[in-house]
Amino acid sequence: MKHLLSVSDLTVETATGLLDEAERFEQALLGREVRKLPTLRGRTVMTVFFENSTRTRVSFEVAGKWMSADVINVSASSSSVSKGESLRDTAMTLRAAGADALIVRHPASGAAHRIAEWTADAGDGPAVINAGDGTHEHPTQALLDALTLRQRLGSIEGKRVVIVGDILHSRVARSNAFLLSLLGAEVVLVAPPTLLPIGVSTWPVTVSHSLDAELPGADAVLMLRVQAERMNGGFFPSQREYSITYGLSEKRLAMLPEHAVVLHPGPMLRGMEIASAVADSPKTAVLQQVTNGVHIRMAVLFGLLVGTEGAAL
Ligand code: CP
Repeated sequence: MKHLLSVSDLTVETATGLLDEAERFEQALLGREVRKLPTLRGRTVMTVFFENSTRTRVSFEVAGKWMSADVINVSASSSSVSKGESLRDTAMTLRAAGADALIVRHPASGAAHRIAEWTADAGDGPAVINAGDGTHEHPTQALLDALTLRQRLGSIEGKRVVIVGDILHSRVARSNAFLLSLLGAEVVLVAPPTLLPIGVSTWPVTVSHSLDAELPGADAVLMLRVQAERMNGGFFPSQREYSITYGLSEKRLAMLPEHAVVLHPGPMLRGMEIASAVADSPKTAVLQQVTNGVHIRMAVLFGLLVGTEGAAL
């Protein structure tokens, strides 16, 4: 496997292998005063972000640095993209400058795929990792969510995972629905009809419009950020109505089974899709997700750039 562009690039074996590899990296770093492994010494990893990010960009940078890669961050606002350079020219420039891996976030669905095609056309191009493309996919987010669920619940197979909110605009929802289903979970989407994508009937999920009905049977709830920036100023139902009907309040948290866990990919809109007290509750695994994000991204970079025997990819 050359790139990680979509959850559909993964099999049960490669996905499970990445979760295992991430935990091996966590163990390898545990208790070390200097968190530096020689694994990617001499490799050049570039993060290329055309949309804002805190968690994904930082965790890829930390992952690369903890494995001794040279990590270079490129953002649209500080690069020649702001002067009108095309996505293809930017990608080819970074390839020519020596990138072994390009980690790409872009508002257009399919952007990372196109970069993988363009840079491969010129020969032995860099590994391309999709760090979020429009409303399409965010595969490393789904992997870190799967790792968090496995750690909190003991396993993923047979668990009922309820994904709540703005499914229409969420690359996190799509990647999670397909990955968790691949790993044997039962996935339920809860959303107002206006925030469900056309074609959701082809997804390996069931759909509900009642959060209250789904909470008592859930092993995990994955709350999504409401992506107002992709709504062109319109939002139906209203934000108030949405929050009342689909927000995870303290009252709703109490409806979950004792063992259940709450996930949110971040950034959270406190008071909108999740109450502040719920966000800070011990049932909520948001910061564990962030920590797992570093280890998952170490595993993905290692698998794509080294891929030695025993590696996951
Ligand atoms: N979960 C996620 O992608 O967060 P960032 O936008 O901060 O990277």
